[in-house]
Amino acid sequence: MSILLEVRDVSKTFNLKDGVVKACSNVNLKIHSGEILGLVGESGSGKTTMSNLILGLEQPDQGEILYKGQSVVEIFKKDEKIFRRGVQAVFQQPLLALDSLQRIERSVTEPLIVHGVGDRASRKARARELFELVGLDESFLQRYPNQLSGGQLQRVNIARALVLSPELLICDEAVSALDVSVQAQIINLFLEIQSKLGVALLFISHDLEVVRYLADRIAVMYAGSVVEESETDALVENPLHPYSRALLSASSIHESSENDNWDMSTFRREELPKLGCKFAPRCRYVDDFCRENEPVIQGFDGDRRSACFKTDALFLRGNK
Ligand SMILES: Nc1ncnc2c1ncn2[C@@H]1O[C@H](COP(=O)(O)OP(=O)(O)OP(=O)(O)O)[C@@H](O)[C@H]1O
Ligand SMILES: [Mg+2]
Repeated sequence: MSILLEVRDVSKTFNLKDGVVKACSNVNLKIHSGEILGLVGESGSGKTTMSNLILGLEQPDQGEILYKGQSVVEIFKKDEKIFRRGVQAVFQQPLLALDSLQRIERSVTEPLIVHGVGDRASRKARARELFELVGLDESFLQRYPNQLSGGQLQRVNIARALVLSPELLICDEAVSALDVSVQAQIINLFLEIQSKLGVALLFISHDLEVVRYLADRIAVMYAGSVVEESETDALVENPLHPYSRALLSASSIHESSENDNWDMSTFRREELPKLGCKFAPRCRYVDDFCRENEPVIQGFDGDRRSACFKTDALFLRGNK
């Protein structure tokens, strides 16, 4: 599979009144054509910052992002529309993304108008075609956003994101605001879309259960860094990084074991250690070496990566 998008050693710092926040540190990610990469981590771990960097809504301080092998900065200089056609997004709040004063048809076809694609009749036909794909009756095209439920609105947003036939969809907490039963329907819709259209997905969520249901591979973020990347089954069966173990123990997909009862209280950036591994204060495998040295993410067992000095031992130990 060819690499569609590559994040190369990207860092992003925000300056605040009372200090700096390193939202992303030296992040490396690859998204291949047609695959679903899950990005998981608790609140504040840097997931949305990563999404904003990929979408060009924020600029990295360091590193670069490549789309089909070309620097996104260079693509933007030449023709931003090339990137906008190829990479689209679906966000958390379905209502916010739509213009409440416009009929839904107008919102769905707007990207076609902006990009000068087709005429009125072909744009209407494209909207109907997409509504069939996302499971909405075409009569909804004539309604206004406030006449639809949250799940229906998210289907509209997905149709809108697909209208230009992108190759990559960035979904940032795209099901998090929905009721659990509706979440399942929208997750299945994403799977259906991926298999029918072959579009790649970067699926971002704080919820490992949601991500594991969808993703081929999962990257786990902690305090701005990717700490593990593994194929989904491998991660669920035998997580390499202690933080992945903690996330898994907090989710119901996991059978209880001695891995349970991790401290899952939300981490506070101001309490992160200045020295050593950032996860050390919460890690049950920690020792003095971890408190003094910061681990770098490294390859393990073929295509896995983990940022922990004890990866070998944890792997041998299994999910116990
Ligand atoms: N524009 C900004 N200005 C200052 N700080 C920011 C900005 N955007 C993000 N941050 C900080 O960067 C860190 C990462 O935030 P981010 O929103 O990327 O996390 P997240 O993983 O998406 O969290 P959530 O699960 O809550 O959406 C946080 O400490 C956040 O407060
Ligand atoms: Mg976020």
